[in-house]
Amino acid sequence: MALRHLSVKALLFFGLCQVGRRGFASAPEVREAPKKIAIIGGGIGGTAAAFFLRQEFGPAVKIEVFEAGTVGGRLATENIGGYEYETGGSIIHPLNLHMKHFLDRLGLSPRADVSSKLAIFDGKELTFEESDWFIVNFIRMLWRYGFNFIRMHMWVEGILDKFMRIYQYQQFGYSFSSVEKLLHAMGGDGFLTLVNQTLEEAMLAEGFSQVFLNDVVTPVTRVNYGQSVRINGFVGAIALAGADSGLWAVDGGNKMVCSGLLYHSKAELVPARVTAISMKMRPSKTGSAANFYEVNYVGESGAAHSTYDIVVVATPLHQGMSDINFSGFSPPIPTHFPGRYHQTVATLVHGLLNVSYLGTTEKPERFFVSDVLTLDNKASEIHSLSSLNPVKIPKGYSPSPASQHKVWKIFSSQPLSQKNLQQIFLSWDSVSEKRWLAYPSYSPPHRRTPPFILHDRLYYLNAVEWAASAMEMSAISARNLALLAHHRWYEQTAKINQEDLHTRLKGEL
Ligand SMILES: Cc1cc2nc3c(=O)[nH]c(=O)nc-3n(C[C@H](O)[C@H](O)[C@H](O)COP(=O)(O)OP(=O)(O)OC[C@H]3O[C@@H](n4cnc5c(N)ncnc54)[C@H](O)[C@@H]3O)c2cc1C
Ligand SMILES: *[C@@H]1O[C@H](CO)[C@@H](O)[C@H](O)[C@H]1NC(C)=O
Ligand SMILES: *[C@@H]1O[C@H](CO)[C@@H](O)[C@H](O)[C@H]1NC(C)=O
Ligand SMILES: *[C@@H]1O[C@H](CO)[C@@H](O)[C@H](O)[C@H]1NC(C)=O
Repeated sequence: MALRHLSVKALLFFGLCQVGRRGFASAPEVREAPKKIAIIGGGIGGTAAAFFLRQEFGPAVKIEVFEAGTVGGRLATENIGGYEYETGGSIIHPLNLHMKHFLDRLGLSPRADVSSKLAIFDGKELTFEESDWFIVNFIRMLWRYGFNFIRMHMWVEGILDKFMRIYQYQQFGYSFSSVEKLLHAMGGDGFLTLVNQTLEEAMLAEGFSQVFLNDVVTPVTRVNYGQSVRINGFVGAIALAGADSGLWAVDGGNKMVCSGLLYHSKAELVPARVTAISMKMRPSKTGSAANFYEVNYVGESGAAHSTYDIVVVATPLHQGMSDINFSGFSPPIPTHFPGRYHQTVATLVHGLLNVSYLGTTEKPERFFVSDVLTLDNKASEIHSLSSLNPVKIPKGYSPSPASQHKVWKIFSSQPLSQKNLQQIFLSWDSVSEKRWLAYPSYSPPHRRTPPFILHDRLYYLNAVEWAASAMEMSAISARNLALLAHHRWYEQTAKINQEDLHTRLKGEL
């Protein structure tokens, strides 16, 4: 009834509020819009940050993305015989909604599906080889591991269900000021416990058997994170989700998402290495001093610097990953946070596999295994061996047997020697090696995850990797930081660190 007494003006005002954060009436006039934003790093994290920051702050703000190497970062391809192959991050889960959304927005598509076949190798022989028949695999697994296998699917699915809540929160504009708060909003104390214990501890406590952990779970953590079941339980669950069906990749290469996001966000790429970030004061018209950030960088034309209202660091602040000197901050910000990144060497070989190396008596022309995972023992020098499909599947392409020359990718923690290669291959005509500092070396319990907020308006995207490192995690962190930067700029504290969102948003769209 009271509605009838509301004036047209008031209705209009409420209407505008409903338009949401981007409606001009909703931005309190405490502050002007930021003029310049810098992003350090042009990987999926930095380019997704450009995309989401543009969405939050509108068309007027100038966004600059600094990239010292190649746009794409840990998403990269290598050309072999005229085709491109993924050497870094390669698989995307069907429920990675940000990655899916990017493809839609950028007009990209998933790569055509090619059938694959998995085996597990103990360094001497294959302990498991997938059959073409689902029911055969099912019975074998049931025979050997009882209900461990089915329960594992249920366990991972339960975690994934909670994980998916983040998309709803972000849809409603909610953000979190630390990795812990973000995890807690998704999965409560359960998620915090999960990141603070090993996958092994978490699964043993859930009643999974040690044999199952050694035989089935370890090969998965080895191929996806180059490490054992002593990684944290959260990243472990993500690794296991990475063994689900329906995994996909981007047609033409995953890194195309990065260049696409950069273009779409109308951000400017600055091909330079950032060397230092410092805080400066500038007296403002109103008399109070305003601070801003000075970014020092070295590009082709030498050293230079620019100033920004907001800065997002989208590269790991770790030894070997970046070397940024933060000066003038109190408390000080370290160039490198504690903890190190794990080396994974990706060796791409165009050659002929020696199937006997895998201890199989199958004839090469009948050997169609595409992914060989490995157990954790002395005899396994490699983490995995996979037959690669090009990033763009040619017409009429079908998986070829091991009797043909093809491109294999080996993951190992140390570079392969000539002797290693001779053991694995009968012959080869090209070898290319990429040494990645790929993802954190996880060793829970972790005392403190690095902060998202390094300083007032200086943010750190890759802090999230200490919960789990994946393309989607960087994208989630990018969206979170764009929202956080916006809400903090306009002092909209009601959208930061809200508890109990899951219950409160129940029944909402
Ligand atoms: C071998 C391998 C396999 C993987 N497999 C998968 C997978 O299957 N699925 C999955 O989801 N994830 C996978 N990952 C992880 C995934 O690739 C990463 O989590 C993700 O790509 C990280 O993106 P990012 O943008 O946050 O960081 P990065 O891609 O590392 O981007 C940081 C960028 O910053 C630049 N930079 C650094 N310092 C400076 C500076 N001072 N100035 C300017 N620029 C700087 C770097 O050149 C780099 O381009 C894999 C990673 C590797 C290495
Ligand atoms: C970092 O910056 C400070 C202050 O400008 C300077 O004294 C110091 O030498 C710099 N360190 C490195 C490693 O560049
Ligand atoms: C293939 O591997 C087997 C088993 O490791 C080895 O005995 C054999 O010599 C290898 N073949 C060649 C041609 O290298
Ligand atoms: C993880 O464990 C460490 C040491 O036991 C503790 O200091 C820390 O607070 C825990 N972190 C979380 C998020 O529970």
